Amino acid sequence: MKKILVALSFLVFQISLLGMSINNKKTDMEVTVAKVKEGYQFTVKAPTTGWVGIGFEASMIMKDAEMIIMTNKDGKGFVEHYYGTGATKVSPISTLDKNYKNDNLKLISYNSDGKNSTYVFLRTESVKGNYFKKLEGSKEIKVLYAWSETTDMNKKHKKSGTEKIKLPN
Ligand code: HEM
Repeated sequence: MKKILVALSFLVFQISLLGMSINNKKTDMEVTVAKVKEGYQFTVKAPTTGWVGIGFEASMIMKDAEMIIMTNKDGKGFVEHYYGTGATKVSPISTLDKNYKNDNLKLISYNSDGKNSTYVFLRTESVKGNYFKKLEGSKEIKVLYAWSETTDMNKKHKKSGTEKIKLPN
């Protein structure tokens, strides 16, 4: 009985680490979210070698959304926190809040096969400030997806879309 319980709790732990996956049809992006001790770990796969972004809870198109943009240079991946300052305008949070050093984001890995890119990053839970959403498990949130053909984060996406999801607890 004890062995079964240990095996079951291990299975539940594994499933929560694997997280839930969402495929966004409009963008062909695949996002897996797992709840970890520090917050949420996202795995984002997109059919591009340019920048890739996900965002949370816009009020109108992109306005007021917290966004995470991932890009790469010379085989190295980068991640930066952005905010939707207008329906079709975004700014790095570090320019809106001079004290912010992207410390709520940590890039864990970046891989590309020359056609698709996969970024894994951690978004910590204890975020403070006007530019972050409170991400709570079991509450439905609107996720924004986008990717570009270029690594230049000032150039618009080629594909974008949205999807309502419930984050894991
Ligand atoms: C350089 C940065 C960006 C620029 C200049 C930009 C610009 C725009 C513009 C002009 C639109 C209006 C519709 C269109 O023309 O496609 C739009 C819509 C949209 N953008 Fe962005 N965007 C940027 C970054 C992002 C990022 C990082 C995301 C996701 C995290 C995103 C998600 C969306 C979504 C979801 C829409 C609504 C259209 C739809 O539902 O397909 N954008 N953007």
